[in-house]
Amino acid sequence: MSNSLYQENLVEHFKYPQNKKAIQDADFAVADHNPSCGDRISMQGLIKENILADVGFDGSGCVISQAAASMLTELCLGKTIPAILAMTSDDMAGLVAIPLGPTRLKCAVLSLQALQQGLREYLASH
Ligand code: FES
Repeated sequence: MSNSLYQENLVEHFKYPQNKKAIQDADFAVADHNPSCGDRISMQGLIKENILADVGFDGSGCVISQAAASMLTELCLGKTIPAILAMTSDDMAGLVAIPLGPTRLKCAVLSLQALQQGLREYLASH
């Protein structure tokens, strides 16, 4: 895809987010925000046999932070907890797939931070 198609893909995820939903009886629920702008992401999920069996997010903020959350939930559904915990900011940059400076990289990583925090809290309590 060309850069403009990647950008269109981001905007599509922003307008029509995947998994922007609440999860009933979630095994973890966390909220995080970017202190420099106040944009928010919360993540909830269900774990079955070490796998992310369902995931939902909510949030408000810039196109990149919200679209990245949507893409991340699509990517991580069905993955194991260790595989998600092993993801890095580089993985988020690859997922968003448009050139990002350091400030915009933080936007892209916000949802991963929240999801990983949720999984760590789940592991600590199980
Ligand atoms: Fe706030 Fe992107 S500008 S997360």
